[in-house]
Amino acid sequence: MTTKPKPRVTVTTLRKMKREGEKIAMLTAYDASFARVLDNQGVDVVLVGDSLGMVVQGHETTVPVTIEEMVYHTRIVAKACQHALVIGDLPFMSYTSTDMALRNSARLMQEGGAHMVKLEGGAPQVATVAQLVHHGVPVCAHLGLQPQSVHKLGGYRVQGRDEAAARQMLDDAKALQDAGTDLLVLECVPVALAEQITQALEIPTIGIGAGRGCDGQVLVLHDMLGISAHAPKFSRDFIGFGATIPQAVASYVGAVKTGEFPADQHCFF
Ligand code: KIV
Repeated sequence: MTTKPKPRVTVTTLRKMKREGEKIAMLTAYDASFARVLDNQGVDVVLVGDSLGMVVQGHETTVPVTIEEMVYHTRIVAKACQHALVIGDLPFMSYTSTDMALRNSARLMQEGGAHMVKLEGGAPQVATVAQLVHHGVPVCAHLGLQPQSVHKLGGYRVQGRDEAAARQMLDDAKALQDAGTDLLVLECVPVALAEQITQALEIPTIGIGAGRGCDGQVLVLHDMLGISAHAPKFSRDFIGFGATIPQAVASYVGAVKTGEFPADQHCFF
């Protein structure tokens, strides 16, 4: 008996999952072998993150990653994914004008095979997002800790702790949604604020160090496999829960879907 292949996850699927309360399981991947494992184990969204600068290339930050490298890694991941929606990350300084964002998003989609592009930033990115959306590019935005700005932020810190910063993040999230953003990553955000943003939006939110109140979760693959040089507090080593890499990925998907991950020790309050 042949089993029917699972249909491709699309932006419509993601909205439906939010409406129906099904949690979205997202992980990063940077090559075909891992991408195939993630796709086979039911990961809904595969992010080809510029975190590859740290976990693949061994840099201290994501800043050195180039668009050329992102196109290459997106291409080898996208080819291996039959089911998951694939997001290609726009790296540092590759979307400083709308024209540049359009050009580089076209590269991630046409040469890389991405189904969506991701960029970091709030209000300053709204006009760029509107133009990308106008030209048919699905967009994932990224608020809270924005790793491309780590030197400006002075380190990897929880964002949105004081009232003004929290209000600004909520306003930015709404403005990004109004501009046509399809998905929003919230990184290192206090649980209550991530919950408030999630409830205020129709688009799904994906948390990383942002608590269980988000519509889905993402982790850097190497962190959840326990092989990163410095895994952050908000990650969990899933290899401890499964003897093989496919089992660890399946454990992660299961834990996200049931709400068992993240637990309190992975959150900021
Ligand atoms: O680059 C990346 O992997 C990311 C995730 C941490 C969300 O942006």
